[in-house]
Amino acid sequence: MYDRFNRRIHYLRLSVTDLCNLRCQYCMPAEGIQLLHHGDILTFEEMVDVVREAVGLGVDKVRLTGGEPLVRRGIIDLVRMIGEVPGITDYAMTTNGTLLTEYAAPLKQAGIQRLNISLDTLDAERYETVTRVGQISEVLAGIDAALRVGFEQIKLNCVIQMSPDEPDALAVAAFGRAQGLDVRFIRQMDTLQGEFWQVLGGTGGQCVSCNRLRVSSDGKVYPCLFSDRVFDIRTLGIREALCGAVAYKPESGKTSQNRFYHLGG
Ligand code: 5AD
Ligand code: SF4
Repeated sequence: MYDRFNRRIHYLRLSVTDLCNLRCQYCMPAEGIQLLHHGDILTFEEMVDVVREAVGLGVDKVRLTGGEPLVRRGIIDLVRMIGEVPGITDYAMTTNGTLLTEYAAPLKQAGIQRLNISLDTLDAERYETVTRVGQISEVLAGIDAALRVGFEQIKLNCVIQMSPDEPDALAVAAFGRAQGLDVRFIRQMDTLQGEFWQVLGGTGGQCVSCNRLRVSSDGKVYPCLFSDRVFDIRTLGIREALCGAVAYKPESGKTSQNRFYHLGG
């Protein structure tokens, strides 16, 4: 699929749940979020159909996101079902890492090739503050589990305030070097102001080379993180929604009233 600006759209980011076991300050308001209704969440079969249709339209790269994807009940079955769609050459997951002790091995077995794990700090207290409820020992054990089961391409996503020279960021960078993991710094985005979400030293966040579509767990296709329009799979049908979103992709995005917790970055 090509959009109006001749960008090839071949990367699908699918949020499999809006639920999360953490409450990161920059992602969710303190009072919590309005959760989607259970009946609005796509079934496994619908998600597989979305992926199959997208692959038929030229998608070859699929990333599962959340919320936290690993809190969806039966996630390993879903991962396997999606992974069986022929034509996916790059199959990845973004996770907060806290459940990887249990899930790293089955995820690998079910076909996930690459993991992005969120890690903003190595300080236990800071981690608890940032995530409101998280224990850093769980993530560190999760990263260890992912390495042990043989994931080779693990990236750490590190949200920074201003600069990669901040103490937390430097510590994560050093940890990454020591463990042989890539670190990507993501400048914290104010989800209310809808500032640009810049990924430093990565390929994300660059509108000219944007190749992605995002689908929320309730089946809405987002042409862009900053789009004012969504294309609903349940009302339009999968193909129409995907093609409509591609056709509507803006040349570049900057601001939005959308909140992003349910789109998984
Ligand atoms: N600004 C920057 N990054 C964010 N993420 C979630 N919310 C924000 C925000 N407001 C990141 C997480 C994780 C990925 C899923 O998205 O830290 O790395
Ligand atoms: Fe959960 Fe990720 Fe949001 Fe943190 S940033 S609350 S881990 S979805």
